[in-house]
Amino acid sequence: MARLLVALPVILVAVVQSKEIPEPSDLAFVLSENEFEDYLDFWLEHKSEVNQLSTAFSKTEGGCTLGVNEDFGQPQPVYLNNNTYLTPTGATGKVNLFSGEQVTIACPGPNRFILHPNITASVATATAVCVNSDLVSGAGWLNGSGAFSGLTCSSHPTHEARATNETCYNNNLVIRVGFTVEDIFYPLYWSCFDERRLEVLYVWYEQNPHNAVHQTGINRPNFAAGTFYPGVPVNDMYKKDQQKATLTNLVGSDLADKYLTTRQYLARGHLAAKTDFIYASGQRASFYFINAAPQWQPFNAGNWNLLEQKLRARIGNAGYNTVVYTGTFGVTQLRDENDRFVDIYLYTDENNNPQIPVPLYFYKVVYDADRRLGTAFVSINNPYYTESEVRALTFCTDRCRNNSAFSWLNWKPDHIDIGYSFCCTIDDFRRTVPHLPPFTVTDLLS
Ligand SMILES: *[C@@H]1O[C@H](CO)[C@@H](O)[C@H](O)[C@H]1NC(C)=O
Ligand SMILES: *[C@@H]1O[C@H](CO)[C@@H](O)[C@H](O)[C@H]1NC(C)=O
Ligand SMILES: *[C@@H]1O[C@H](CO)[C@@H](O)[C@H](O)[C@H]1NC(C)=O
Ligand SMILES: *[C@@H]1O[C@H](CO)[C@@H](O)[C@H](O)[C@H]1NC(C)=O
Ligand SMILES: *[C@@H]1O[C@H](CO)[C@@H](O)[C@H](O)[C@H]1NC(C)=O
Repeated sequence: MARLLVALPVILVAVVQSKEIPEPSDLAFVLSENEFEDYLDFWLEHKSEVNQLSTAFSKTEGGCTLGVNEDFGQPQPVYLNNNTYLTPTGATGKVNLFSGEQVTIACPGPNRFILHPNITASVATATAVCVNSDLVSGAGWLNGSGAFSGLTCSSHPTHEARATNETCYNNNLVIRVGFTVEDIFYPLYWSCFDERRLEVLYVWYEQNPHNAVHQTGINRPNFAAGTFYPGVPVNDMYKKDQQKATLTNLVGSDLADKYLTTRQYLARGHLAAKTDFIYASGQRASFYFINAAPQWQPFNAGNWNLLEQKLRARIGNAGYNTVVYTGTFGVTQLRDENDRFVDIYLYTDENNNPQIPVPLYFYKVVYDADRRLGTAFVSINNPYYTESEVRALTFCTDRCRNNSAFSWLNWKPDHIDIGYSFCCTIDDFRRTVPHLPPFTVTDLLS
């Protein structure tokens, strides 16, 4: 714990002084799970300044311009406009409103209300109207016009993970995550969840150019189980001591000590990344176990993080509108004392059924429906396989390798310790991973 508190500030000071900002993935073996997320946030904040300087955008004449990283206060309300979450223009990180345009400001959840220095009424939901610049007015609840950034909630809005009456692959449960404002549910992402195995098959959500810039500096909340892990101490199962006990049962204590080191251990690997969501409210709503799976930390910080960042930047720069399916497949294996491969699960129920599998593969399938293009990016979640084993587990021709169309990806696909990686066509991918709903693809998305 002491190291955890000391290491990150030291690195940040060194970084600021040298003006060199190492790629987060270069620190995959230096930072712990939480340190890494905090560093990534810091790094993106400095990176995005550069990006925003080089991004030309035209201010709405006479309207309001709100910067994602300048004009959104905290604890942050939910902002709605045009029946969806308030949307920045392209990849600029700026929301443009015309003079007179309305934004719904909401603080959903029990005993929550809107705060502002110029507030005149206690309301949980209200309509703000763009005056000009960063000023809004609000008839009946704001006195005159006030800064948009002054709008906050009395405490963080309550997000929800709710079972739907829809099913996904093999009759599994679709759970939707989002906010309810005035009885209307606004989804952020959906999870396809196997309630029997406590396994997240995949999560899906939109990624568009406006996702290129997100709010930085948002604190990590605790992970929530919602109602989906009844009686299972899921957060405890991820604790390092518990991982050691679990692996000791599966492979013996000597090998458990070898596999679980200060650097190699299982993190709560986000499927939809925190940073895939623009606003604090969405980022906080990403912290559900139905949006996570056990992932070796250097892989989480290494090739997986590279894929998350580079794909988001690519979508922003190229102007693609996509749906991303981020999921898991298979069960990773470790050798036991008799040199036999054993499936790794974090939990077994009272009837000895294994639950919460440690996935063999993590993947992101990115799909552009308008252009009918898609690519599956796949990584192996196991630092202990040999080179011949990861080759044998590569289930398609790697379309990214030696392909200049994917030069933006820039991952280190051969590094087994940070997640051995490859790309497939959607058709090839489906031959091994049958989970995703049908959609038509005519070529790779690059
Ligand atoms: C809301 O929709 C209107 C009409 O399509 C559009 O002019 C306006 O720019 C949209 N507002 C935002 C913030 O996207
Ligand atoms: C509104 O603001 C004005 C000027 O700051 C102040 O004089 C007035 O009392 C305020 N009205 C209310 C209802 O708070
Ligand atoms: C509150 O209202 C006054 C008068 O309308 C205005 O000058 C001031 O900037 C407002 N304060 C904030 C924080 O918006
Ligand atoms: C499923 O839920 C939706 C609301 O989420 C509802 O409109 C619909 O009637 C439900 N369908 C069935 C078959 O229960
Ligand atoms: C592909 O690239 C690798 C280096 O990443 C190189 O070693 C290999 O020879 C290339 N293969 C082909 C077929 O060009």
